[in-house]
Amino acid sequence: MIITWSDILSIGHDTIDREHKYILDTVTRLYLIEVDNKSKDESVMLFGEMIDLIVSHFHNEEAVMRINRYPNTDHHIELHSELFSRLTDILYLLETGSDRVAHELVQCIDDWAHLHILVQDRMIVDYLEANHL
Ligand SMILES: [Fe+2]
Ligand SMILES: [Fe+2]
Repeated sequence: MIITWSDILSIGHDTIDREHKYILDTVTRLYLIEVDNKSKDESVMLFGEMIDLIVSHFHNEEAVMRINRYPNTDHHIELHSELFSRLTDILYLLETGSDRVAHELVQCIDDWAHLHILVQDRMIVDYLEANHL
């Protein structure tokens, strides 16, 4: 089952939390369409919506890091690129009619929630708080 938004995933930054929630809500909708084997067109459309939200979120988060001179910014941006290329691979699976889309999406979003949001993104907020920014 795909991870859904809950307060456990909140890192204490209103804008970032809200964007994470929108993304996870969209991923959940996409996952449900995939497991129900509904329409491929709908999946591709929703995948595009999810990618747009993620690109815009990365952009905003990277701006927060740069403006506040977060020391780990370059590494964090690399992690965003890695996640993006993983999603591109999943989009390819979707477009080629693979039955592994739901499985790969679960893995990818689980890693993103537990390893990225709760570790890397939280480090940004810890830095902002520690430096009264
Ligand atoms: Fe991030
Ligand atoms: Fe994030």
